[in-house]
Amino acid sequence: MPDKIINLPIDIPLQPMLRDRRERPLRDLRISVMDRCNFRCPYCMPEDKYHKDFQFLKRSERLSFDEILRLANIFAGLGVEKLRITGGEPLLRPGLADLIGDLTRIEHIDDIALTTNGILLAQHAAALKAAGLDRVSVSLDSLDDAIFQVMSGGRGSRDRVLEGIAGAVEAGLTPIKVNAVIKRGINDDSVLDLVRHFRGTGVIVRFIEYMDVGTINHWRVSDTVPSMELIGRINERWPMRPVEQNYHGEVASRYQFDDGRGEVGFISSVSVPFCGACTRARLSSDGRLFTCLFAASGTDLKTPLRAGAGDDELRQIIEQVWMRREDRYSEIRTERGPVTDKVEMYYIGG
Ligand code: GTP
Ligand code: 5AD
Ligand code: SF4
Ligand code: SF4
Repeated sequence: MPDKIINLPIDIPLQPMLRDRRERPLRDLRISVMDRCNFRCPYCMPEDKYHKDFQFLKRSERLSFDEILRLANIFAGLGVEKLRITGGEPLLRPGLADLIGDLTRIEHIDDIALTTNGILLAQHAAALKAAGLDRVSVSLDSLDDAIFQVMSGGRGSRDRVLEGIAGAVEAGLTPIKVNAVIKRGINDDSVLDLVRHFRGTGVIVRFIEYMDVGTINHWRVSDTVPSMELIGRINERWPMRPVEQNYHGEVASRYQFDDGRGEVGFISSVSVPFCGACTRARLSSDGRLFTCLFAASGTDLKTPLRAGAGDDELRQIIEQVWMRREDRYSEIRTERGPVTDKVEMYYIGG
């Protein structure tokens, strides 16, 4: 027994960092603010299923901005540093800039990004920036208007998306990333065009391997063009070399052009899964917490929230979910065989 009081060293963490069963911390929260979309991409919301009578969530079923803010604060207390606002199409949610403004005031959050199809971006870019949004990622699968129409289900227009990107550049929502999902036989010929168009502009194009998300896209492995194939094609035209990740767990592999005209990225979840470093949680617009893009179900946070649960109670629910998390779908895709009960992509925002 010591004969004087000993102060414990200050660096003993009061709250040990939350980790899942594979030792992954919780760092990113992707918040879907809207289940509706103004596109009908056949691989996500095919028109025949998501027709005019389809029952989307009612307004009252979606989390309010106050509810989102409250949950985001709790997530930040558990280690989240990065927020990404998604949909459906998030810019269909009225007043989104107000939510962004509130989210910027949460302690520990150092990056707020938005994923959009770009159609409404030109009109909202300045207000989003003023509210504190850091950057945007815009989906654009082809510069060829006919192919663009096929990929977006005949809605929207390539020119309006390009205007949206220009608006985001002007507003300073940088670095702007263009996400192109590549499906073999549909838009794989658009790859060089996209690179040519954005090279040297500061906009970073990223090619996403087409994945088996959701239950309706009838994915076959032959639909996916492995990133290595695209890298070979691009490198032949514009030599490039791999460069380091910007941060641990970045989903895109980066390649810089030898001539100094910027970079492109490759998101290779099928050919080179990145589950080992997956620190992402996803919150659906009706308040369910998903720990994987391919999960069958989520944990309902809205019911306890609306029943008056305190922050501690909500924190405990989230902690329990994360501590039990074992997801690594992309790593075990082939050994698991076909899975038929996955959440739809538009519902949790990709
Ligand atoms: P940065 O912060 O800019 O690196 O963003 P990000 O790449 O994390 O987010 P973004 O929404 O731009 O992701 C682009 C695409 O990568 C998504 O639409 C998905 O198709 C895919 N993706 C992102 N996160 C995951 C993930 O956890 N698992 C899988 N399988 N794919 C993901
Ligand atoms: N595979 C890969 N990416 C997809 N996205 C939607 N469906 C798929 C899929 N099956 C992308 C969108 C958008 C982002 C939100 O997710 O094209 O870029
Ligand atoms: Fe909308 Fe994105 Fe789904 Fe296309 S992929 S329908 S833009 S949510
Ligand atoms: Fe994370 Fe699931 Fe994607 Fe793997 S498949 S990276 S666990 S979201």
